[in-house]
Amino acid sequence: MEVGGSLPVPNVQQLASSSEGVPVRYIRPELELERVSNDEYDRIPLIDLHSACKDWGFFQVINHGVAEEVILKMKADIQEFFGRPLEEKMEYAQLPNGIEGYGQAFVVSEEQKLDWGDMLYINAQPINRRNMRLWPSSPSSIRASLDQYSIELEKVARSLMTSMAKNLGVEPEKLLDLFKEGVQTVRMNYYPPCEQASKVIGIAPHSDGSGLTLLNQVNEVQGLQIKKDGKWVPVDPIPGAFIVNVGDIIEIMSNGVYKSIEHRALVNHKKERLSIAAFHDPNVDAMIGPLPNLLIKDPKKQAPNYKSISHQDFKKLGRKMKLDGKNKGLIQYLKIQTEKEE
Ligand code: OGA
Ligand code: NI
Repeated sequence: MEVGGSLPVPNVQQLASSSEGVPVRYIRPELELERVSNDEYDRIPLIDLHSACKDWGFFQVINHGVAEEVILKMKADIQEFFGRPLEEKMEYAQLPNGIEGYGQAFVVSEEQKLDWGDMLYINAQPINRRNMRLWPSSPSSIRASLDQYSIELEKVARSLMTSMAKNLGVEPEKLLDLFKEGVQTVRMNYYPPCEQASKVIGIAPHSDGSGLTLLNQVNEVQGLQIKKDGKWVPVDPIPGAFIVNVGDIIEIMSNGVYKSIEHRALVNHKKERLSIAAFHDPNVDAMIGPLPNLLIKDPKKQAPNYKSISHQDFKKLGRKMKLDGKNKGLIQYLKIQTEKEE
């Protein structure tokens, strides 16, 4: 016999249609000994990125390809930074009228309720937007850690956006091009313990004005909650995982298919809590509006549900709305009301 040749055996289709029954050569007694699960939870994981973006606006991802040491180093350095004496942190204090640096979220009036948290907010990408004056230089590795973290997270964001675009039926480049030379900012949050934890709030309910946010819950103290069907749903901290959420800009670009969901952070009675949010925005020249290719593809969605606006106007208006205390104000303002809704 030639190597690789096969001996002739019956045609199975023909065999099956004959009335002779199953020849013994096909019978496998060992099958009776094998165990098959009838547990409905024994299923290979089904990962549906599309429904996560559409029905939740939030999901958590592990094994995202970012080296563990990059995340651990970032966490260790930011924990150390917040642990430094106040006067040292104040060397990086926000400048008047600026949000970048060490300080608190925007406060506009004496009556405004305040968040129980401090933050370090920096521009990370593109590099020419970095204000190194406001990047801490101690601990000595924190700048390198932030730089690495920023680069790696941008890669994850782009790879997620590639899949999201495909799921929306748009060529990935149509979305990715808008995020080329994209603006990335990083907000590192520090929530001290609070003796009246149940009466204060770490970050008041908001939706992110970003494209895509990747959040890391640094020290496994629970606090993040998202609004789902009128209730607050807590998000478990998983070490090394990124919580991904669709921001206002991707809600608009997806013409409302993907949702920018309201969320908030609570604080702990006994333990401090830290988180790092990396916001991925389009480049400064990008127009923000429903992706034209999306509108062409889907006849049901041919009409844009949002007005288009330049990135710069988007930021300006977004800030103004926040100052006026309107959380999802910008999205509401840009939404094109259908007759029914009016
Ligand atoms: C944010 C944010 C949540 C958290 O920084 O935009 O939503 O858990 N943070 O700190
Ligand atoms: Ni947020």
